Amino acid sequence: MTMQTSASAKIILFGEHAVVHGAPAIAVPVSDLRATAAVVPGGSGLTINALNLNRVLPVEVASDVVDDALVLAVRKTLDMLNTPPPDATIHLGATIPMASGLGSGAAISTALVRAVALAAGCSLSDAQVNELVYEVEKFHHGNPSGIDNTVIVFEKPVYFVRDQPPELLHITRPFTLVIGDTGHSALTKIVVKAVDGLVAAQPDRFALVIERIGKIVWSARRAIETGEVESLGPLMDENHALLRDLTVSSPELETLVQAARAAGAMGAKLSGGGRGGNMIALTGEDRIEQVVNALHGAGAVRVFATRVE
Ligand code: PMV
Repeated sequence: MTMQTSASAKIILFGEHAVVHGAPAIAVPVSDLRATAAVVPGGSGLTINALNLNRVLPVEVASDVVDDALVLAVRKTLDMLNTPPPDATIHLGATIPMASGLGSGAAISTALVRAVALAAGCSLSDAQVNELVYEVEKFHHGNPSGIDNTVIVFEKPVYFVRDQPPELLHITRPFTLVIGDTGHSALTKIVVKAVDGLVAAQPDRFALVIERIGKIVWSARRAIETGEVESLGPLMDENHALLRDLTVSSPELETLVQAARAAGAMGAKLSGGGRGGNMIALTGEDRIEQVVNALHGAGAVRVFATRVE
């Protein structure tokens, strides 16, 4: 009998990068895009079949060296559950584009951790899954804030401050985001490190940028909670300009952001690690088609609209 677990993708609405340095950030799940893990009990030992990555790996839980994020996720989970590896194969898959700021890594880890627990006949709370996936994120990213694992594990809009319990956000008035993919992937780890370098080299200047982003996030939270969706657009534009100051935009992101605004989006910004990956545009119902077409015309390799509610 096959059992299945899954986890959603995510979008960071406000505050990426600044969140690594202590500012708040807001992220929402994108439930239409998912990572899945199908557990087929049987066989001997635990095997992970990573369909998207074209890899099959037996999990050598006895080995001391862990140089693979999937194996790390499995071992940390078994350690927490204090149980031996179950006899099973876990088939991993995802409809989330990789390395593009949509949280594919954290979503795959989340589905896998849940699948290992299921295969072992145990259960884990969301808080425990979040703790485990954060450990894997550290392996992937070096210095993650923890926002990706949190929004994905709880699959709820979050207002997040590093090292503090996440606050779940209520979306008072649903809104639509159009998401455009530049088709250029960039490793979050490298971009986060570059921003670290800037902050270390010019602490006074960049402390101000981070503080201004924090204020934008605060205003965005208020707008989301009071249902003043229209005021989110200018806040996105401002946040994007500050991300540009942090050097995490790219020519392709600039082209898409400008195309979305010119087609009538209320605001637009890059989302996630930047220097490639995705941008988001806050778009009224009457402009969705125009913004989608404009993004395709400006070179986006993938465009879709998602409702935040
Ligand atoms: O994984 P991405 O591309 O969504 O970026 C994560 C957001 C950052 O703020 C850039 C890094 C972090 O750990 O918060």
